[in-house]
Amino acid sequence: MKVILFGATGMVGQGVLRECLLDAGVESVLAVGRRPGGQQHAKLREILHDDFFDFAAIESQLAGYDACFFCLGVSSLGMDEARYRHLTYDITLAAAGTLSRLNPQMVFIYVSGRGTDSTESGRLMWARVKGKTENDLLKLPFKAAYMFRPAGIQPLHGIRSKTAWVQAIYVVSAPLLSLLNRVAPNYMTTTEQVGRAMIRVARDGYPTRVLESADINRL
Ligand SMILES: NC(=O)c1ccc[n+]([C@@H]2O[C@H](COP(=O)([O-])OP(=O)(O)OC[C@H]3O[C@@H](n4cnc5c(N)ncnc54)[C@H](OP(=O)(O)O)[C@@H]3O)[C@@H](O)[C@H]2O)c1
Repeated sequence: MKVILFGATGMVGQGVLRECLLDAGVESVLAVGRRPGGQQHAKLREILHDDFFDFAAIESQLAGYDACFFCLGVSSLGMDEARYRHLTYDITLAAAGTLSRLNPQMVFIYVSGRGTDSTESGRLMWARVKGKTENDLLKLPFKAAYMFRPAGIQPLHGIRSKTAWVQAIYVVSAPLLSLLNRVAPNYMTTTEQVGRAMIRVARDGYPTRVLESADINRL
């Protein structure tokens, strides 16, 4: 399987990249980012790109892939709806539109989050925007698209959040998070489980197009 990864420098993306590099069934990974991830690996190639609303300049390098794991995303904290939609919906659909045109046999997996609002009309701004993003991704002519809706994600294997205070919370509460993962799989998963689940779903499919935390942990 040949994989394109977006968001490889982020917490979720680093976890997904780790699992892809370890999995013998993943032949190669193309990480598309705006800065280098700093990793060297025989299976990994990076494209640095500066306009995530327009992929025309790198289109020729985006064909011939089996799966895209889209882990790029921003927090809605302190953002108004227009800005959050621009960075969430516009970037994701720009990438996915290009990829679906170039790779009709591709499986596209998007990381949204628990509580995403498929009605697009609820009270929570981030949930509406992610709901619209999911709904429109599901309409694109991919072989299949799957929406991953994790709740909390515990970073494992030295992966760190970019936000210092968030990382501090992960460190202090690591034993509690591991316990939660076992007793409340609807609320907690790990970077390892997300990465492994993506690879499995891309390879074998899944009965539903939307996967909650418990689905991710079951895979
Ligand atoms: N962390 C969680 O517990 C959690 C739980 C549920 C859902 N999620 C969702 O998972 C996704 C990833 O979360 P995360 O925690 O991994 O976030 P993160 O650590 O902040 O990483 C975000 C990734 O997106 C890239 N990115 C952000 N804005 C960009 C832009 N304008 N242009 C190009 N690249 C951009 C970042 O690149 P740079 O490194 O260049 O900034 C980075 O690779 C988000 O959609 C989030 O809502 C996360």
